[in-house]
Amino acid sequence: MRDRTNILLAIAARAPVIPVVTIEDPSLAPALAATLVEAGLPVVEVTLRTPRALDAIRAIARHAPEAVVLAGTIVTPSQIGEAIDAGAAALVTPGTSPGLADALAAAPIPAMPGCATVSEAMALHERGFDLLKLFPAAASGGPAWLKGIAGPLPGLRFCPTGGIDAQSAPAYLACPNVACVGGTWVTPATLVAAGDLAAIGRLARAAAALMRG
Ligand code: 3PG
Repeated sequence: MRDRTNILLAIAARAPVIPVVTIEDPSLAPALAATLVEAGLPVVEVTLRTPRALDAIRAIARHAPEAVVLAGTIVTPSQIGEAIDAGAAALVTPGTSPGLADALAAAPIPAMPGCATVSEAMALHERGFDLLKLFPAAASGGPAWLKGIAGPLPGLRFCPTGGIDAQSAPAYLACPNVACVGGTWVTPATLVAAGDLAAIGRLARAAAALMRG
């Protein structure tokens, strides 16, 4: 588990923001990932929420190898093998049932399991996960929650995601226990559907310039 944690921490250190993207058309995925890399955001989370999401992960892994592609919205153990086969570098979950935590702990690639409460964070920490997704971050307490948990649980780091945008991201990144933040504001569905890579590139460059605390 320690090796996988170190790999995950190294991925999180690559950029302050992980764009979360829902892709309908996998043929756009490599160019989208290349745009993000070029703008300074080499890590991208592709959500498993569309029929072609695994194809999008596969296309990025094959044709945009400079990007680090994470499989997001993993909600069942059966999706883990599919995401790994498609070429995902790590697994991300919105929340983590005990069964899913078991499966993630046994997976051969790193996982960033989701949590929304102190008890959930503690349970995942006990299982050996040190970098967690806080989701949905804004609705779960935002930067105040993160600052509150830093004292009692100093060994945990977070990637808050959910309800974060360019305006609110700096307050999260200023928290000492935040490794990076995630969100869809860099890759909004409308721009992705329109294939507007120029606009996505501009949003990504602004996000890449955000500073960690
Ligand atoms: C996720 O899966 O992480 C969320 O859908 C992020 O959503 P938001 O950035 O649009 O709130």
